[in-house]
Formats: sequence, C-alpha cells, structure tokens
Amino acid sequence: MSGATGDDSNDAVLVAEATARVAGTASLDDLSALESELLGKKSTLAVAQRSLAALSLEAKREAGQRLQAVRKQIEAIVAERRAMLEEVARAERLAADRLDLTEVRGVPWRGHLHLVQRTRDELEDVFVGMGFAVAEGPEVETDWYNFEALNMPPAHPARGMWDTLYLDLGEPETVVLRTHTSPVQIRLMQAKFPPIYAVMPGRCYRRDTPDARHIPTFNQIEGLVIDRGISFADMAGTIEAFTTAYFGPDIHSRLRPSYFPFTEPSAEFEVTCTICGGDGCRTCSHTGWIELGGCGMVDPAVLAAVGLDDEMWSGFAFGFGIDRCAQMRHEIPDMRVLLENDVRLLRQI
Ligand code: DAH
Repeated sequence: MSGATGDDSNDAVLVAEATARVAGTASLDDLSALESELLGKKSTLAVAQRSLAALSLEAKREAGQRLQAVRKQIEAIVAERRAMLEEVARAERLAADRLDLTEVRGVPWRGHLHLVQRTRDELEDVFVGMGFAVAEGPEVETDWYNFEALNMPPAHPARGMWDTLYLDLGEPETVVLRTHTSPVQIRLMQAKFPPIYAVMPGRCYRRDTPDARHIPTFNQIEGLVIDRGISFADMAGTIEAFTTAYFGPDIHSRLRPSYFPFTEPSAEFEVTCTICGGDGCRTCSHTGWIELGGCGMVDPAVLAAVGLDDEMWSGFAFGFGIDRCAQMRHEIPDMRVLLENDVRLLRQI
C-alpha cells in the first residue's frame, strides 16, 4: 500500500489489493481484524489522510477527496463481505440446530396411554357398565375426611394401618396426603343424597419404602353403594361380577373376614391367581388366590358422620389398588417400573 497518497492508479491498486484480501477472509473475526488493518487509525490510508495536513489547501482538498473515495470503496467491500460471512454463519448455525427427524420416517411409534391410566379407564368402564357413576376427590385431605369421618377418631389405633404423610399446613397433623380413596365416599355422601352407586378412582400416598409390591404413590379405586335394603350378598355379587368382567371368565373372587374401621362386617377380597390360574405358584404362596382389596358393609358410624339415617339406608364399600390390578393382569414382576417411565418398557405395555 505504498504510495497511498499518490495518484489515481495507486488508489486503484490500493482498492484492488484490499478487495483481494477482503475476499480471502474466512470468518467474521478475520474480517474485523483486516478491517482495522485497512481502515483503522494505524492503517496506511489513515496515515496518508493525516499527512494531508502539510499540503496546500488546493492539494489537500484534491487528495483528501480521493482518499475519502478510496475509504468509501473499501468500506463498501468490507460491508459486502461481512453480509456474506454473516449469512454463512447463520446457515451454519441453522444446520447445527437442525433436528434429525429421519428416525420418524416409516411407521412412527405414536405413543399411548400409560398402563396405569389404561387400567383405570378399563376399571371405570366395567363399573359404568354395571350402572355405577364415577366421582373424584382431592389428593390433599383433612384429617377429618381421611380418618375421623371414617370412624377413626384422633388416636384411634386403626390409623396405624396407614403410614401417613402429613403436610405442614395449619395445625400440626391436620392435613394429609390421602392414604386411600375412602375419604371420597364421605365427600360423595355429603354431596349427593342416596341412592348412590359410584366408583372413585385416584392417586393415594403412603410413607412406604418402594419394593416389588409397594410404591409410595399409587392408585386406588373405591366403590360405594348406598340404597335401601343393600345386603352383604349384593356386595359379594358385585365383586364377583367385576372380577369376571375385568380379568376374564376363569378368574373368580372370594371373601375372607377382616377388619376396617369404616365397615362392619369387613372382608378382604381375593381373586384367582392370574399367574397360575389357581393351581398355586410362588406369586400366590401356593394358595391359588391373590388379595386385591378390602370391602364391607358401611359402618353406621360413617353414615352418622354424614347425617344419613342407618334405619333407612344401608350399603357396602370396597377399595383396591389399580396399580396392583395392572400388575396382576400384565404379570409385571416389580411395581416400581410403573413409576420409572423407562421408554423401553412403556413401549411393551
Ligand atoms: N381404604 C382401604 C385401604 O386403603 C381399602 C378399603 C377397605 C376400602 C374396605 C373400602 C372398604 O371401601 O370398605 O386399605
């Protein structure tokens, strides 16, 4: 770039040289570096422009205009190159961010409802087919709904049947994560006068250490029938009808005496072991039966808690695990997989 202050031909050389060097830049950083070399304070051009001060007025104007024209041209070349390099950089960014959707080609795997949700839907369908309504209640409950109204006054020993998670809300130990769906029975009886034929599915919580047969958040489905003249036989028949409808005609139910504070008498109901078909295997401890849930005739104290006359109304209730049903019907050895959401498993079930 010698002779920058010289004549027109020198200017042309200067511009041509700048053009070639600008065209050779490969990145925006290169270009910025070159730009200050060509046009910055220490550039040949700037030095030449500064040196004009010594010239006569006439010569100063003439050379000054020429050098300014050179500067303008180089600036334009640089701007053009910058726009181009920016476009390249943008295209590179887009290419890097691009999602590879080629996996989706062919027949895509569409996904489906989770097994627990499907089981819940199927159970609801079975009961709706038997004339039951479906109701829901909150997962955060007061002690009154979860225990007291279910015939468990404060300090009642049966409260120990549930490992309860308390919430740090209000007075200590007054608000819980519901340990079962039974409190929804209370809410339903408060909301609707009998006759009541309803199932109440939903999530429950217990302070349990997870293992193959227990998970601390699980799902239950509660059943409640309140009407005139309801008997234990109605309950046994309802449970048997549900069992064959859901598990198939080879699976039956039986009742064994048990205790729950909210029912009297109470029972546990068992169904034919789905693994061995009743012959006896390890899963059912060689009994041929697997326990599914609890049931019984609604205790008069529970009817009293919601202001129903037990001379006029009677009923039965039951409750069992939805996850347990899914586990049995699909022969899932470990319940924890229902919470882990491993896609490889979800695809199979
Ligand atoms: N709530 C009980 C539990 O979580 C299950 C149960 C037993 C529900 C008897 C009922 C019942 O409605 O009558 O273990």
